[in-house]
Amino acid sequence: MYVMGSILHVLAEHFYSAKILLYTYLTEIFQAGVPLNIITNIFMKKNNVNNPKVDQLQQYTTDNSGEKLTTNQGLKINNNQDSLKSDDRGATLLEDFILREKITHFDHERIPERIVHARGSGAHGVFRLSKSMEKYTKAKFLSEAGKETPVFVRFSTVAGSRGSTDLARDVRGFAIKFYTEEGNYDLVANNIPVFFIQDAIKFPDLVHAVKPEPDHEIPQASSAHDTFWDFISLMPESMHMIMWLMSDRAIPRSYRMMEGFGVHSFRFVNSEGAAFFVKFHLKPKLGVHSVAWPEAQKISGFDPDFHRRDLWEAIEKGTFPEWDFGVQIVPEENEFDFDFDFLDPTKIIPEEVVPVEIFGTLTLNRNPDNFFAETEQIAFHPGHIVPGIDFTNDPLLQGRLFSYTDTQLSRLGSPNFHEIPINRSINTVHNNQRDGHMRQQIAKGKVSYEPNSIGGGCPFQAMMKDGGFASYGEKISGTKIRARSESFVDHYSQAKLFYNSQSEYEKEHLQKALIFELTKVTIPAIRERMVSQLNFIDKELAQKVASKLGVEVKILEKPNGSIPADADPQSLQSEEREPETKVSEALSMANTIKDSIKSRKIAFLIAEGFDDESVSSLMNKLEEQGGVVELVAPEMIPVKGENGTTFMPHHSITSTASVCFDAVYVVSGENSTHHWVQPDYKNGVLDFINEAYRHCKAIYFGNHTELIYDHTDIYTKKHEDYAVILEENNSGDQNFISAIASHRAWKLEKQRNGMK
Ligand code: HEM
Repeated sequence: MYVMGSILHVLAEHFYSAKILLYTYLTEIFQAGVPLNIITNIFMKKNNVNNPKVDQLQQYTTDNSGEKLTTNQGLKINNNQDSLKSDDRGATLLEDFILREKITHFDHERIPERIVHARGSGAHGVFRLSKSMEKYTKAKFLSEAGKETPVFVRFSTVAGSRGSTDLARDVRGFAIKFYTEEGNYDLVANNIPVFFIQDAIKFPDLVHAVKPEPDHEIPQASSAHDTFWDFISLMPESMHMIMWLMSDRAIPRSYRMMEGFGVHSFRFVNSEGAAFFVKFHLKPKLGVHSVAWPEAQKISGFDPDFHRRDLWEAIEKGTFPEWDFGVQIVPEENEFDFDFDFLDPTKIIPEEVVPVEIFGTLTLNRNPDNFFAETEQIAFHPGHIVPGIDFTNDPLLQGRLFSYTDTQLSRLGSPNFHEIPINRSINTVHNNQRDGHMRQQIAKGKVSYEPNSIGGGCPFQAMMKDGGFASYGEKISGTKIRARSESFVDHYSQAKLFYNSQSEYEKEHLQKALIFELTKVTIPAIRERMVSQLNFIDKELAQKVASKLGVEVKILEKPNGSIPADADPQSLQSEEREPETKVSEALSMANTIKDSIKSRKIAFLIAEGFDDESVSSLMNKLEEQGGVVELVAPEMIPVKGENGTTFMPHHSITSTASVCFDAVYVVSGENSTHHWVQPDYKNGVLDFINEAYRHCKAIYFGNHTELIYDHTDIYTKKHEDYAVILEENNSGDQNFISAIASHRAWKLEKQRNGMK
């Protein structure tokens, strides 16, 4: 009965007609509490084919279906309702080992959250190589076109705690663990291609500055406060990153619509020992899209798990997130051909200068079975590499190579965290490391040292031809020095490049973000210093921001406040270089892919008496193209159409807002329109539409909805607006679909908001 119910549920989720037929049946099943994992198991099995990591995890996966409750020792429990007492009103006995075991385990359920990137969500998937990269790297998972490698990916925000909102203005982590036949390879990436600082020694300072202030622990998951901007305003090297952070890239529409960047230059090394500098890129097939900042703030209230839910639901529905994976490649001999040092992690190599060579696809196709066991306990590390991939001397990367294992020792509590199932490599580990808390591997024999004769010399070291890892033999000679290379001192050129590459509306969003953030700064001197930093990037930007903050733009003599005690501050001020590229199209989201409504959420504002035919016709068209229709009704009770079709809504107008959707359809039908304009619902429905309008979404008014339309803000606007569709017919449907695919009518933002 349960399995049957589950299949019907999935059918109903996917097919409109089935939804109607099964409505009554589903309601009953839901009330009976169908376990969703049964559906997931049935539908996800197909994605597990040939996935050695999933096979390995199965050995550690339990399923309680049909089983008896036991203690951790396997004893079957007869009464899980009452503790053991001296009398039914008497004191609890110390003897109650069942109670003690249960409570002791519970008392220790929490582990420390990650010190940064604490809030995250993850999924399993596969990386498929489309083109051999053998010419550049001997990494086996990159050598044979068609090869598939299992992966686990964890997305995250940086500053907030584990329970913070997904929609904070922040960098997003994009960490990928490739379970290759040569061991785990981790690409611990972000959705922004540069970083705040050039040297790892500044990382604790940066994180202390952005985290909640230590006296009162305010604010949570926000950079809009004194200590962050105090630090940043003294750090010109952060300015390029600040441009990205204040752009809409820092408030993605979805994890599935973000780029990923390895940030540092890494090395590929081929079987001849030749090395190439590489920068890793992931490009989402759905394009790069964002929400608007006022939306982000509101989503944080309506659905703080917005990104987590979005990722989970997309995978459950089979709309698997996908990215093209590629690299920018620079031969060793061209290392010094650029107007910046590409060991400097505050710089990009513009794609116009070195194009991204795509060599495969990353697909996420399976949700974890257990958040804690998989997403929380996974341990990434930029130092987990395989033969054919190596590091560079980027001083930020070098510090990271120390940090991750060190922090994981305290987060996961023992040096054996590599044995946690999600962290295990799919090839077997053989070495002489032994013991420690929670050791699971049972190593046979007397020998735990090398060289040995008793164990026949095993485990043997591997020759390079057999896959043994040898570090790239980079020539190094130098004087021990605690200093930064002069080639790192240009701090504003690429900040300018980013700002100048933005479209007009993107520039405006960036300005507003800066105004929001700096308005929250309580110390005027910090605001002033910060706008004066902006002056080095763009004078108009600085003036605009300053004019809203009541401070003046000053000429900073020594903008760099990050100076060693014995250094000459003048010698460490930014020196601008003439950039090769003044504008890079790849930096603007305005130029991203806009051709699909796949997985876009469309709210149908539906009420009693709707027009059955047009609702079902549009619903089918949208669903055929991968759109996700959700019904928003006046109340959370079934709604009936003119011809008797009945739907159970997904939301009531009070439990959601248009910020949680990509587009809005006000359904056809005189009766339903009358229903919506009743005093109890009118404000709700108008707010819903007006807000979608302000945020430049596609809005489609069905037939006979004038009574609603006439009261919206749209009614008073007289400009051309391709994304407000008033004529309901075939071309109206098509126009609506095209408008959704284009993401937002951002170019009309000013007109829609009545501004000049
Ligand atoms: C010196 C600079 C940095 C240091 C010291 C550092 C340190 C850390 C630490 C301690 C964690 C928590 C790890 C854990 O508990 O498992 C972490 C997580 C992370 N870091 Fe960094 N980080 C640095 C720079 C960066 C940069 C430049 C990037 C992006 C390229 C980055 C991406 C990430 C990501 C994605 C995670 C989350 C991994 C996960 O999902 O578990 N970090 N970092």
